[in-house]
Amino acid sequence: MKTFRFGVIGCGLMGREFASTAARWMHLTDAKARPEIVAVCDTNTELMAWFQTHVPSVRQATTDYRELLANPEVDAIYCAVPHVLHAEFYTDIIKAGKHLLGEKPFGMDLSQNKAIMAVLAEHPDLIVRCSSEMPFFPGAQKVVAMAASGEMGDILEVEAGFLHSSDIDPDKPINWKRMEHVNGAYGCMGDLGMHVLHVPLRLGWRPDTLHANLVKRITERPDGKGNRVPCTTWDNATISSRVRTADQDFPLVLKTWRIAPGESNTWYIRILGMKKSAFFSTKQPRQWQWMDYQGSTQSWNTEDLGYGSVFPAITGKIFEFGFADAIQQMWAAFVDELAGGTANGFPCASPAEAAAHHAVLTAALQSGLENRVVSVDYD
Ligand SMILES: NC(=O)c1ccc[n+]([C@@H]2O[C@H](COP(=O)([O-])OP(=O)(O)OC[C@H]3O[C@@H](n4cnc5c(N)ncnc54)[C@H](O)[C@@H]3O)[C@@H](O)[C@H]2O)c1
Repeated sequence: MKTFRFGVIGCGLMGREFASTAARWMHLTDAKARPEIVAVCDTNTELMAWFQTHVPSVRQATTDYRELLANPEVDAIYCAVPHVLHAEFYTDIIKAGKHLLGEKPFGMDLSQNKAIMAVLAEHPDLIVRCSSEMPFFPGAQKVVAMAASGEMGDILEVEAGFLHSSDIDPDKPINWKRMEHVNGAYGCMGDLGMHVLHVPLRLGWRPDTLHANLVKRITERPDGKGNRVPCTTWDNATISSRVRTADQDFPLVLKTWRIAPGESNTWYIRILGMKKSAFFSTKQPRQWQWMDYQGSTQSWNTEDLGYGSVFPAITGKIFEFGFADAIQQMWAAFVDELAGGTANGFPCASPAEAAAHHAVLTAALQSGLENRVVSVDYD
């Protein structure tokens, strides 16, 4: 099996998820290739030490990502650093000729995303994708397949959301994700926007106008050193948009909420059509629901799916699928593309999709600030 040698830049929450997924690559039954992490970079040396302890293939550990990029052993990069660093790091990674799975939002704002896209245009040979794992849940795949079949009839409404609640605690210490100068002016939309837009954009559903309600409830947080400091990011965003395609015209509602009482990591999508409707939420991770209206009974069906993954795995189909599995499926899609495959028909979010999501979030930010309907500019 071909091996792609990876460098990980940013060894925090998500960097370690990749290490875990790569370590259990034997979980996948027909992978064409596998990732091997050979180099790591973080300014926090304790986190690099974690990699050196748990990932025996790591041969380079550096606090300077440029040293990692100069390593000829490294074929591809996973970059999971704070948003303010995306543009500089991603453009340097691409210029170094390395394939890249970059974390969302793929640039802290529109201009930084454009800078990444400009450099990428000069390196069409590289496989570059944006991280977004939730659509790899089997239930999400069922919803996508039903929508793509064109059998749902006239779409009445689509709602997609990502809901968290830990920020409801005003005493939760601040981190970079609540600082506008590090996380970006999008706030919660930059954290969660790619997650909620990935499927609509994949289905060709681009909002052309929108109105956003932005909510900022927590304005200060403890800094962990006995002080309270400004908490500057938007907590919640509800975007009400309009999608017009050649044969559809419907509302698309997007919710990116950091303060959604009771929710821990709920990603969901609901598509309501005149003929068929479908719903999946990670709250019930093994189930999806759908309705097939034939002119008489209106009855929602619920199906337990188990482990019916895009990339086959050793887990029996009766067993449950979870977050770590979605991460691994996303990685399987990326590595499959590196190996010349088609990602079994569902590639990771593309740079073009990430750019389109920036267009939507930029319009949403403007709309929220000015409280008016804004057209989305995809130029
Ligand atoms: N796909 C998902 O589900 C998901 C979930 C959470 C976060 N993310 C994204 O992943 C990225 C990172 O988020 P995280 O939660 O892992 O954050 P994190 O804070 O846990 O990790 C970021 C790491 O980057 C390191 N870092 C900071 N400056 C650096 C520098 N100059 N050079 C090298 N390393 C540096 C930090 O020390 C830290 O370890 C963000 O883009 C975020 O939006 C994605």
